[in-house]
Amino acid sequence: MNKNLTKLCIIASKKSRLIIGLMSGTSLDGLDVALCCFTGSGLDTKIEILQFDTVDYEPSFKEEIRSVFSKITVNLEKICLLNGWVAKEHAAMILQCLKKWKISANEIDLIASHGQTIYHAPKWLHQQEKFGNATLQIGDGDQIAVATGIITVSDFRQKHIAAGGEGAPLAVYGDYFIFSKKGEDRIMLNIGGIANFTYLPGNLNAADIFSSDTGPGNTLIDAYAQAHFQVAFDKNAVIASQGIINEDLLQTLMQHSFFEKDFPKTTGPELFNLAYLESAILVADVQSIAHVDVMATLTRFSAITIAGALQRTLNKEGNFVIYTSGGGMHNPLLMQHIHSLLPGYRFFTTDTLHINPDAKEALLFAILANECVAGGETAIGNGTNDIPSVSMGKISFPW
Ligand SMILES: Nc1ncnc2c1ncn2[C@@H]1O[C@H](COP(=O)(O)OP(=O)(O)O)[C@@H](O)[C@H]1O
Ligand SMILES: [Mg+2]
Repeated sequence: MNKNLTKLCIIASKKSRLIIGLMSGTSLDGLDVALCCFTGSGLDTKIEILQFDTVDYEPSFKEEIRSVFSKITVNLEKICLLNGWVAKEHAAMILQCLKKWKISANEIDLIASHGQTIYHAPKWLHQQEKFGNATLQIGDGDQIAVATGIITVSDFRQKHIAAGGEGAPLAVYGDYFIFSKKGEDRIMLNIGGIANFTYLPGNLNAADIFSSDTGPGNTLIDAYAQAHFQVAFDKNAVIASQGIINEDLLQTLMQHSFFEKDFPKTTGPELFNLAYLESAILVADVQSIAHVDVMATLTRFSAITIAGALQRTLNKEGNFVIYTSGGGMHNPLLMQHIHSLLPGYRFFTTDTLHINPDAKEALLFAILANECVAGGETAIGNGTNDIPSVSMGKISFPW
């Protein structure tokens, strides 16, 4: 047997595994690096997050990604170059974290790399008959494996698409394994660039579970803050808090068929971007609106669409508890709006469940890698293609 496979078999049969989960979402804020200790798999998965860091992206790194990110027309050579370069940069960030944590690469069993999404094109968005759902993450797994010496599982979303899904949200698998609780209907709400949630019924009926994007989380707020206030994001909503919500603009922003679509559905900055905002400003005829008022309106827009999606789910009878994660939960105005739109529901962060909410997404990919190597089939969802029972990820060896 190839000794790579021998090593993989040993890792798969170990009592516990050390896996580094990586996540870098559409916010392009940085690389989340979570060192997790796993025992078991599937519903028997037990996890401890041993270390967590977000390695902030340098402005020059963000610039390189933005040159191709969610753009219809790009320089193809640039994508080709970025695929390896992003991986090397990510590998350097991993090694930097390991050094800081005083852990040797030899001790790590697997890296779970999400990669950097550069385009997300579900069929409902591109509407080209002969093509299916599509998504593209760059940052090649072979490069990470060779540069770190650690077996790397990457490119998780392609299998989900191959099996009929939209390639997102993948959170549903990990959410089910580690957060399902008998007797408590749970909503796991993650507010990244795009917001998504997983519904976990308290009757533990795996067939009722689903997961969906709700629309923009931070992406439009960030994009407008960057364009008009020269900041990466509206820290603590200081800017949006100075503005007044413009109802005409808000109503126009809400006029998109995405919000009417049934769950599950996925989206990205390919739709919710500054061009979307500009056309809404024109349609609403509010061209002279103050920048702070746009910020206030965008924050309300994210909150209303998140709360609206949850409300459609919460209308089912149950004793719902909402657990938040992702950078948007640090935006006090956004959270205040969501809370006031969903009165009576109990909100916590995943900290209550002993999972650092900033590390949660990276952890979810570590779970997928653990499943890929040591797990089995998982039949969840309503039997359609939305949550296919497949193992996800491609395995790269260091040599
Ligand atoms: N203190 C804060 N105030 C307002 N927004 C914040 C704060 N901290 C984080 N954020 C938001 O969270 C985003 C990062 O969220 P994250 O979960 O990392 O998203 P992604 O998965 O898309 O990378 C930032 O771009 C910013 O919009
Ligand atoms: Mg991030």
